[in-house]
Amino acid sequence: MSNLNIKVIAGSVREGRFADRAATWIGEELKKHEGVSVEIIDLKEYNLPFFNALETPAHKTKPYEDREVARFTSKIAEADAFIIVTPEYNHSTSAVLKNALDWVYQEWNNKPVAFVSYGSVGGARAIEHLRLIAVELQMAPIRESVHIPGEHYFPVLFGASSATELFEKMQSQSERMIAQLMWWAHALKKARS
Ligand SMILES: Cc1cc2nc3c(=O)[nH]c(=O)nc-3n(C[C@H](O)[C@H](O)[C@H](O)COP(=O)(O)O)c2cc1C
Repeated sequence: MSNLNIKVIAGSVREGRFADRAATWIGEELKKHEGVSVEIIDLKEYNLPFFNALETPAHKTKPYEDREVARFTSKIAEADAFIIVTPEYNHSTSAVLKNALDWVYQEWNNKPVAFVSYGSVGGARAIEHLRLIAVELQMAPIRESVHIPGEHYFPVLFGASSATELFEKMQSQSERMIAQLMWWAHALKKARS
């Protein structure tokens, strides 16, 4: 089977956030699989403006003028599949992640996406919104996901318990999710070619 390029997107940028820690963890879990190359796309490292382009990305005829948008889009183009790590902000995903999703179109198309979320009810409401958005971007959101509940990660965020123990609890969810994502990634890579 061909190699897979899987990008993990860290979906929050605030000081003291949890997204980078969850993204690093799931990236390491992915690396345990043969034939997978993994890159973390940390939205904090991309200075994306709020969407302000003349053309809508779905009908884009010219390359992006903004250098940061072009850099972000070229990373998305490289990928065969994505794991999006999302917080739950006001029963949805973060604005910074929605803005990043809005900037790109063709480069998301026909690729599978899985989600790792966290929040008081495991970020479930953020993932439900993201699944609807993913369909509009012509992606294939998969069913298996990782939901990290507040009771597990709040103590880690505030330094009261260990991240290693927390992520061990998420192991079986992450294995199921990665297996399903890889199945879809191989199938859609073949279909795109
Ligand atoms: C603006 C804002 C809104 C939030 N809304 C929710 C919410 O609706 N549900 C929830 O479970 N947690 C909510 N939280 C708590 C976040 O899940 C928690 O702060 C989490 O650590 C945020 O992700 P981050 O650390 O990656 O920024 C909210 C936090 C912020 C900053």
